[in-house]
Amino acid sequence: MITIGYVALLAAASITRSPLVQAATTVIPSNSLSSYTTLEQFWAYLYPWGSDHNGSARMVGNSSYHENIAIASSTLSLIATPTSGAVPPTSTANPNPAIHYASGTIHALEQITVTSENSYTISGDFSAPTTFGKTWPAFGKPIPAAVVGWPPEADLGEWKGTTNTWFNTFNTSTVVVSDLVPWPSDLSFHTLMAVLTAESNNKDVRIDFYMDGELKTTQFGSGFVGAALWLIIDLQMEGSSGSPGPTGTTTYKIRNVEVTRSGD
Ligand SMILES: *[C@@H]1O[C@H](CO)[C@@H](O)[C@H](O)[C@H]1NC(C)=O
Ligand SMILES: *[C@@H]1O[C@H](CO)[C@@H](O)[C@H](O)[C@H]1NC(C)=O
Ligand SMILES: *[C@@H]1O[C@H](CO)[C@@H](O)[C@H](O)[C@H]1NC(C)=O
Repeated sequence: MITIGYVALLAAASITRSPLVQAATTVIPSNSLSSYTTLEQFWAYLYPWGSDHNGSARMVGNSSYHENIAIASSTLSLIATPTSGAVPPTSTANPNPAIHYASGTIHALEQITVTSENSYTISGDFSAPTTFGKTWPAFGKPIPAAVVGWPPEADLGEWKGTTNTWFNTFNTSTVVVSDLVPWPSDLSFHTLMAVLTAESNNKDVRIDFYMDGELKTTQFGSGFVGAALWLIIDLQMEGSSGSPGPTGTTTYKIRNVEVTRSGD
């Protein structure tokens, strides 16, 4: 059985941004998950490319449907529920697994682009289910066509059914560096933070990963400078390491997510 919750950065189609002259900018304020109005100001429902990826959950939600992407008490819940149906539809994403769940994902409207001039800090509090099954990478190839130039990808936290969170950076398309850090299985909230800074070669990005205020590891993304990244918070299910997944409801909770940019 497997569920995969994560917060990740994924390569996005490049966008043109005019240079800003500012010391620090709040890209996403910490109260963005306090109501559907603020959610929709800073985030969009589902994946940037739609509802499906290569797991067995289809993401479902919009401004009038909140069974799987729900806000209460300034906390976002991504909720996976088993679907029933005589002939389950299949995912539109390679390798087109059968859909067994409805679940939730959001992505930030503003993309994150680390340059030699700036630095990003992404933080938030996460209550992640760790009790199911075993491993599966959060994401990866083939990335759908709407997203170009994968990698970059970095997982600022990922739970794959072990009592760890995984910090991953796709250093290159073939080299993924993963560091596993113990994560309590009691559904308590813990704080994750990642700081993204360009290296002096103006090509590579250094990512410092923190849990509960403590630096846990540093990883490097080769050629990440100048690449526009999506910030995605996702609860995906099953996938390549097996099924069946849980027969009941699985909930991944997120609050106080904040993104700031300094330097430019
Ligand atoms: C919102 O999502 C629900 C569930 O998928 C769907 O039935 C409904 O048509 C959607 N509404 C809009 C306005 O897209
Ligand atoms: C889904 O994508 C992940 C990440 O690239 C990969 O490891 C996994 O094997 C894929 N799952 C399937 C069922 O192909
Ligand atoms: C990852 O990429 C960075 C930048 O190119 C490099 O310094 C580092 O050694 C690489 N690490 C691994 C484990 O491949």
